[in-house]
Amino acid sequence: MITVIANLKGGTGKSTVTFNLAVWLYSTGRRTTVIDLDPQRTLSDAAALRMEEGVEPSIHVDAGTFSDVTLPENAEEIIIDVGAADLGSFKQAIMIADRILIPVTPSQADIWSTQRFVGFLSKNTHGNPPESITFLNRADTNKTIQASDEAAAALDALPGVRLIPQRLSDRAVFRDSFSEGLAVFELEPRSIASREFKSLAETLYGHGYRSALDRLRKQKKSTAVDPEFRQALKTPSAKPGMADRIGHEDVIPPSDAEAAHKNWEQEQQGKKKHKTKEGKKRKKASKNKHGGKGKKIKKGKKRKKGA
Ligand SMILES: Nc1ncnc2c1ncn2[C@@H]1O[C@H](COP(=O)(O)OP(=O)(O)O)[C@@H](O)[C@H]1O
Ligand SMILES: [Mg+2]
Repeated sequence: MITVIANLKGGTGKSTVTFNLAVWLYSTGRRTTVIDLDPQRTLSDAAALRMEEGVEPSIHVDAGTFSDVTLPENAEEIIIDVGAADLGSFKQAIMIADRILIPVTPSQADIWSTQRFVGFLSKNTHGNPPESITFLNRADTNKTIQASDEAAAALDALPGVRLIPQRLSDRAVFRDSFSEGLAVFELEPRSIASREFKSLAETLYGHGYRSALDRLRKQKKSTAVDPEFRQALKTPSAKPGMADRIGHEDVIPPSDAEAAHKNWEQEQQGKKKHKTKEGKKRKKASKNKHGGKGKKIKKGKKRKKGA
Protein backbone atom coordinates (compact mmCIF):
# COMPACT_ATOMS: atom_id res chain seq x y z
CA MET A 1 0.00 0.00 0.00
CA ILE A 2 1.27 3.46 -0.86
CA THR A 3 0.75 6.00 1.92
CA VAL A 4 1.63 9.61 1.18
CA ILE A 5 2.15 11.79 4.25
CA ALA A 6 1.15 15.21 3.09
CA ASN A 7 -0.11 18.65 3.94
CA LEU A 8 0.35 21.88 2.04
CA LYS A 9 1.47 23.48 5.28
CA GLY A 10 5.00 23.01 6.61
CA GLY A 11 5.85 22.11 10.20
CA THR A 12 2.84 19.89 10.89
CA GLY A 13 5.06 16.87 11.55
CA LYS A 14 5.06 15.09 8.18
CA SER A 15 8.74 14.12 8.25
CA THR A 16 8.66 13.23 11.96
CA VAL A 17 5.66 10.97 11.47
CA THR A 18 7.04 9.41 8.27
CA PHE A 19 10.34 8.64 9.99
CA ASN A 20 8.71 7.07 13.04
CA LEU A 21 6.33 5.05 10.84
CA ALA A 22 9.29 3.90 8.72
CA VAL A 23 11.20 2.61 11.75
CA TRP A 24 8.04 1.00 13.12
CA LEU A 25 7.29 -0.75 9.79
CA TYR A 26 10.89 -1.98 9.52
CA SER A 27 10.70 -3.27 13.09
CA THR A 28 7.55 -5.27 12.25
CA GLY A 29 9.52 -6.93 9.45
CA ARG A 30 7.47 -5.56 6.56
CA ARG A 31 9.24 -4.93 3.25
CA THR A 32 9.06 -1.16 3.31
CA THR A 33 10.23 1.48 0.89
CA VAL A 34 10.71 4.98 2.24
CA ILE A 35 10.68 7.90 -0.18
CA ASP A 36 11.54 11.54 0.44
CA LEU A 37 10.16 13.92 -2.19
CA ASP A 38 10.51 17.03 -0.04
CA PRO A 39 13.47 19.16 -1.19
CA GLN A 40 14.08 20.02 2.47
CA ARG A 41 15.26 16.39 2.91
CA THR A 42 14.52 16.34 6.65
CA LEU A 43 13.57 12.68 6.49
CA SER A 44 16.74 11.76 4.56
CA ASP A 45 18.87 13.66 7.10
CA ALA A 46 17.38 11.79 10.04
CA ALA A 47 17.90 8.44 8.27
CA ALA A 48 21.49 9.38 7.38
CA LEU A 49 22.23 10.26 10.99
CA ARG A 50 20.74 6.96 12.09
CA MET A 51 23.02 5.13 9.69
CA GLU A 52 26.10 7.08 10.85
CA GLU A 53 25.30 6.14 14.44
CA GLY A 54 24.96 2.51 13.41
CA VAL A 55 21.42 2.16 14.75
CA GLU A 56 19.63 -1.00 13.55
CA PRO A 57 17.50 -1.40 11.57
CA SER A 58 19.01 1.20 9.29
CA ILE A 59 16.43 2.99 7.17
CA HIS A 60 17.12 3.38 3.49
CA VAL A 61 15.52 6.50 2.05
CA ASP A 62 15.14 7.01 -1.69
CA ALA A 63 15.20 10.78 -2.23
CA GLY A 64 14.76 13.03 -5.24
CA THR A 65 12.03 14.24 -7.52
CA PHE A 66 9.16 11.89 -8.38
CA SER A 67 10.80 10.81 -11.63
CA ASP A 68 14.12 10.05 -9.84
CA VAL A 69 12.76 7.56 -7.33
CA THR A 70 11.84 3.90 -7.79
CA LEU A 71 8.59 2.37 -6.61
CA PRO A 72 9.43 -1.32 -6.20
CA GLU A 73 6.64 -3.70 -7.10
CA ASN A 74 7.46 -6.17 -4.35
CA ALA A 75 7.27 -3.63 -1.49
CA GLU A 76 4.59 -4.40 1.07
CA GLU A 77 4.47 -0.81 2.21
CA ILE A 78 5.62 2.38 0.53
CA ILE A 79 5.61 5.59 2.52
CA ILE A 80 6.27 8.92 0.91
CA ASP A 81 7.06 12.24 2.57
CA VAL A 82 6.15 15.19 0.35
CA GLY A 83 6.49 18.95 0.69
CA ALA A 84 4.91 21.84 -1.18
CA ALA A 85 8.37 23.08 -2.22
CA ASP A 86 8.28 20.52 -5.07
CA LEU A 87 4.66 20.80 -6.12
CA GLY A 88 5.18 18.73 -9.27
CA SER A 89 6.39 15.69 -7.32
CA PHE A 90 3.72 16.36 -4.68
CA LYS A 91 0.95 16.11 -7.30
CA GLN A 92 2.42 12.99 -8.89
CA ALA A 93 2.68 11.27 -5.51
CA ILE A 94 -0.98 12.03 -4.85
CA MET A 95 -1.96 10.40 -8.14
CA ILE A 96 -0.36 7.07 -7.18
CA ALA A 97 -1.34 7.10 -3.49
CA ASP A 98 -3.68 4.52 -2.01
CA ARG A 99 -4.22 6.89 0.86
CA ILE A 100 -3.09 10.25 2.14
CA LEU A 101 -2.19 10.76 5.77
CA ILE A 102 -2.55 14.37 6.88
CA PRO A 103 -1.02 15.40 10.21
CA VAL A 104 -2.65 18.58 11.46
CA THR A 105 -1.54 20.75 14.36
CA PRO A 106 -4.35 22.22 16.47
CA SER A 107 -4.81 25.78 15.27
CA GLN A 108 -7.42 27.54 13.22
CA ALA A 109 -4.88 28.32 10.49
CA ASP A 110 -4.20 24.60 10.19
CA ILE A 111 -7.86 23.77 9.86
CA TRP A 112 -8.25 26.30 7.07
CA SER A 113 -5.17 25.02 5.32
CA THR A 114 -6.43 21.43 5.63
CA GLN A 115 -9.71 22.49 4.09
CA ARG A 116 -7.82 24.02 1.18
CA PHE A 117 -5.71 20.89 0.92
CA VAL A 118 -8.82 18.73 0.56
CA GLY A 119 -9.86 20.93 -2.37
CA PHE A 120 -6.36 20.64 -3.82
CA LEU A 121 -6.53 16.83 -3.56
CA SER A 122 -9.82 16.71 -5.38
CA LYS A 123 -8.67 19.11 -8.10
CA ASN A 124 -5.46 17.22 -8.72
CA THR A 125 -7.07 13.80 -8.93
CA HIS A 126 -9.89 14.79 -11.30
CA GLY A 127 -12.38 14.69 -8.49
CA ASN A 128 -11.39 11.19 -7.42
CA PRO A 129 -9.01 11.66 -4.49
CA PRO A 130 -7.56 8.72 -2.56
CA GLU A 131 -8.81 8.03 0.92
CA SER A 132 -7.65 10.91 3.10
CA ILE A 133 -7.03 10.31 6.76
CA THR A 134 -6.27 13.06 9.21
CA PHE A 135 -5.15 13.12 12.84
CA LEU A 136 -4.00 15.69 15.35
CA ASN A 137 -0.29 16.09 15.88
CA ARG A 138 1.27 18.21 18.63
CA ALA A 139 -1.97 18.08 20.60
CA ASP A 140 -2.08 19.86 23.96
CA THR A 141 -0.90 17.79 26.89
CA ASN A 142 -2.77 20.07 29.26
CA LYS A 143 -6.32 18.69 29.42
CA THR A 144 -7.77 22.04 30.47
CA ILE A 145 -6.76 23.62 27.12
CA GLN A 146 -9.51 22.88 24.64
CA ALA A 147 -7.74 23.90 21.42
CA SER A 148 -7.12 20.28 20.42
CA ASP A 149 -10.71 19.19 21.01
CA GLU A 150 -11.98 22.18 19.07
CA ALA A 151 -9.60 21.46 16.21
CA ALA A 152 -10.68 17.80 16.23
CA ALA A 153 -14.33 18.83 16.05
CA ALA A 154 -13.59 21.12 13.11
CA LEU A 155 -11.61 18.41 11.29
CA ASP A 156 -14.41 15.96 11.92
CA ALA A 157 -16.81 18.33 10.18
CA LEU A 158 -14.64 18.69 7.07
CA PRO A 159 -16.02 16.79 4.10
CA GLY A 160 -13.47 14.71 2.23
CA VAL A 161 -11.26 13.68 5.14
CA ARG A 162 -11.67 11.05 7.80
CA LEU A 163 -10.51 11.99 11.28
CA ILE A 164 -9.07 9.18 13.37
CA PRO A 165 -9.18 9.71 17.13
CA GLN A 166 -5.55 8.74 17.74
CA ARG A 167 -3.48 11.84 18.56
CA LEU A 168 0.19 12.58 19.06
CA SER A 169 0.72 15.07 21.84
CA ASP A 170 3.25 17.85 21.77
CA ARG A 171 6.20 16.28 23.56
CA ALA A 172 9.89 17.11 23.56
CA VAL A 173 10.82 13.47 23.01
CA PHE A 174 9.55 13.72 19.41
CA ARG A 175 12.11 16.45 18.72
CA ASP A 176 14.88 14.83 20.76
CA SER A 177 14.52 11.40 19.19
CA PHE A 178 14.30 12.77 15.65
CA SER A 179 17.46 14.81 16.08
CA GLU A 180 19.28 11.62 17.15
CA GLY A 181 18.00 9.55 14.24
CA LEU A 182 15.83 7.50 16.59
CA ALA A 183 12.13 6.74 16.68
CA VAL A 184 10.30 7.98 19.74
CA PHE A 185 9.68 4.39 20.92
CA GLU A 186 13.42 3.66 20.71
CA LEU A 187 14.53 6.64 22.76
CA GLU A 188 11.79 6.41 25.38
CA PRO A 189 9.99 3.09 24.96
CA ARG A 190 7.88 3.48 28.09
CA SER A 191 6.79 7.06 27.50
CA ILE A 192 3.26 8.24 26.79
CA ALA A 193 4.56 9.60 23.47
CA SER A 194 5.66 6.10 22.54
CA ARG A 195 2.29 4.60 23.45
CA GLU A 196 0.48 7.26 21.48
CA PHE A 197 2.66 6.70 18.45
CA LYS A 198 2.25 2.92 18.53
CA SER A 199 -1.49 3.30 18.80
CA LEU A 200 -1.44 5.51 15.70
CA ALA A 201 0.83 3.12 13.78
CA GLU A 202 -1.29 0.08 14.63
CA THR A 203 -4.44 1.90 13.67
CA LEU A 204 -2.94 2.71 10.29
CA TYR A 205 -1.22 -0.60 9.65
CA GLY A 206 -3.04 -3.13 11.80
CA HIS A 207 -4.38 -6.22 10.07
CA GLY A 208 -8.00 -5.29 10.72
CA TYR A 209 -7.63 -1.87 9.15
CA ARG A 210 -9.27 -2.47 5.76
CA SER A 211 -12.26 -4.47 6.94
CA ALA A 212 -12.87 -2.05 9.82
CA LEU A 213 -12.89 0.89 7.43
CA ASP A 214 -15.32 -0.84 5.10
CA ARG A 215 -17.59 -1.63 8.01
CA LEU A 216 -17.44 1.93 9.29
CA ARG A 217 -18.21 3.34 5.88
CA LYS A 218 -21.56 1.55 5.98
CA GLN A 219 -22.46 3.02 9.35
CA LYS A 220 -23.44 6.64 9.22
CA LYS A 221 -22.77 8.16 12.56
CA SER A 222 -23.68 11.75 13.17
CA THR A 223 -20.96 14.17 14.15
CA ALA A 224 -20.71 15.62 17.60
CA VAL A 225 -19.57 18.98 16.40
CA ASP A 226 -20.61 22.15 18.12
CA PRO A 227 -22.53 24.05 15.37
CA GLU A 228 -21.42 27.41 16.71
CA PHE A 229 -17.81 26.36 16.51
CA ARG A 230 -18.27 25.10 12.98
CA GLN A 231 -19.84 28.36 11.94
CA ALA A 232 -17.05 30.32 13.57
CA LEU A 233 -14.59 28.43 11.40
CA LYS A 234 -16.73 29.02 8.31
CA THR A 235 -16.40 25.39 7.33
CA PRO A 236 -19.12 23.88 5.17
CA SER A 237 -21.38 21.45 6.96
CA ALA A 238 -20.29 17.84 6.76
CA LYS A 239 -21.61 15.52 4.10
CA PRO A 240 -23.50 12.60 5.59
CA GLY A 241 -21.18 9.76 6.40
CA MET A 242 -17.98 11.78 6.24
CA ALA A 243 -17.74 12.11 9.96
CA ASP A 244 -17.52 8.37 10.59
CA ARG A 245 -15.08 7.83 13.36
CA ILE A 246 -12.71 4.94 13.68
CA GLY A 247 -12.71 3.66 17.22
CA HIS A 248 -9.72 1.94 18.81
CA GLU A 249 -11.64 -1.30 19.24
CA ASP A 250 -12.81 -1.29 15.63
CA VAL A 251 -9.48 -0.94 14.00
CA ILE A 252 -6.63 -2.23 16.08
CA PRO A 253 -5.90 -5.92 16.27
CA PRO A 254 -4.94 -7.06 19.76
CA SER A 255 -1.25 -6.65 20.38
CA ASP A 256 0.98 -5.96 23.34
CA ALA A 257 1.35 -2.29 22.54
CA GLU A 258 -2.35 -1.81 22.15
CA ALA A 259 -3.14 -3.74 25.28
CA ALA A 260 -0.68 -1.54 27.15
CA HIS A 261 -2.31 1.54 25.71
CA LYS A 262 -5.80 0.35 26.66
CA ASN A 263 -4.65 -0.47 30.18
CA TRP A 264 -3.20 2.96 30.49
CA GLU A 265 -6.43 4.57 29.27
CA GLN A 266 -8.51 2.50 31.66
CA GLU A 267 -6.15 3.44 34.45
CA GLN A 268 -6.64 7.11 33.61
CA GLN A 269 -10.42 6.70 33.47
CA GLY A 270 -10.35 4.82 36.77
CA LYS A 271 -8.48 7.71 38.32
CA LYS A 272 -11.06 10.15 36.98
CA LYS A 273 -13.95 8.09 38.34
CA HIS A 274 -12.15 7.74 41.65
CA LYS A 275 -11.73 11.48 41.74
CA THR A 276 -15.45 12.07 41.14
CA LYS A 277 -16.48 9.56 43.79
CA GLU A 278 -14.11 11.16 46.23
CA GLY A 279 -15.62 14.55 45.42
CA LYS A 280 -19.14 13.25 46.15
CA LYS A 281 -18.00 11.62 49.37
CA ARG A 282 -16.31 14.82 50.45
CA LYS A 283 -19.51 16.79 49.78
CA LYS A 284 -21.57 14.29 51.76
CA ALA A 285 -19.05 14.32 54.58
CA SER A 286 -19.14 18.08 54.83
CA LYS A 287 -22.97 17.99 54.83
CA ASN A 288 -22.95 15.50 57.67
CA LYS A 289 -20.20 17.28 59.53
CA HIS A 290 -22.47 18.89 62.10
CA GLY A 291 -24.23 15.62 62.75
CA GLY A 292 -20.84 14.06 63.44
CA LYS A 293 -21.32 11.46 60.67
CA GLY A 294 -18.70 12.77 58.28
CA LYS A 295 -15.84 10.41 57.50
CA LYS A 296 -12.26 11.43 56.92
CA ILE A 297 -11.67 11.23 53.16
CA LYS A 298 -8.35 10.10 51.79
CA LYS A 299 -7.04 12.22 48.98
CA GLY A 300 -7.02 10.66 45.47
CA LYS A 301 -3.64 9.93 43.95
CA LYS A 302 -2.19 12.77 41.95
CA ARG A 303 -1.90 12.26 38.24
CA LYS A 304 1.60 11.51 37.11
CA LYS A 305 3.02 14.03 34.69
CA GLY A 306 3.47 12.78 31.13
CA ALA A 307 6.87 12.43 29.43
N1 LIG B 1 4.29 15.45 18.36
C1 LIG B 1 5.28 16.33 18.37
N2 LIG B 1 5.72 16.88 19.53
C2 LIG B 1 6.70 17.78 19.57
N3 LIG B 1 7.36 18.22 18.47
C3 LIG B 1 7.00 17.72 17.27
C4 LIG B 1 5.96 16.75 17.15
N4 LIG B 1 5.83 16.44 15.82
C5 LIG B 1 6.73 17.18 15.17
N5 LIG B 1 7.45 17.96 16.02
C6 LIG B 1 8.49 18.93 15.71
O1 LIG B 1 7.91 19.91 14.85
C7 LIG B 1 8.87 20.39 13.92
C8 LIG B 1 8.34 20.21 12.50
O2 LIG B 1 8.20 18.81 12.24
P1 LIG B 1 8.50 18.21 10.79
O3 LIG B 1 8.28 16.74 10.89
O4 LIG B 1 9.82 18.66 10.26
O5 LIG B 1 7.31 18.90 9.98
P2 LIG B 1 7.04 18.94 8.40
O6 LIG B 1 7.77 17.79 7.78
O7 LIG B 1 5.56 18.83 8.26
O8 LIG B 1 7.54 20.28 7.92
C9 LIG B 1 10.14 19.58 14.19
O9 LIG B 1 10.97 20.36 15.01
C10 LIG B 1 9.65 18.36 14.93
O10 LIG B 1 10.64 17.83 15.79
MG1 LIG C 1 9.26 17.77 6.30
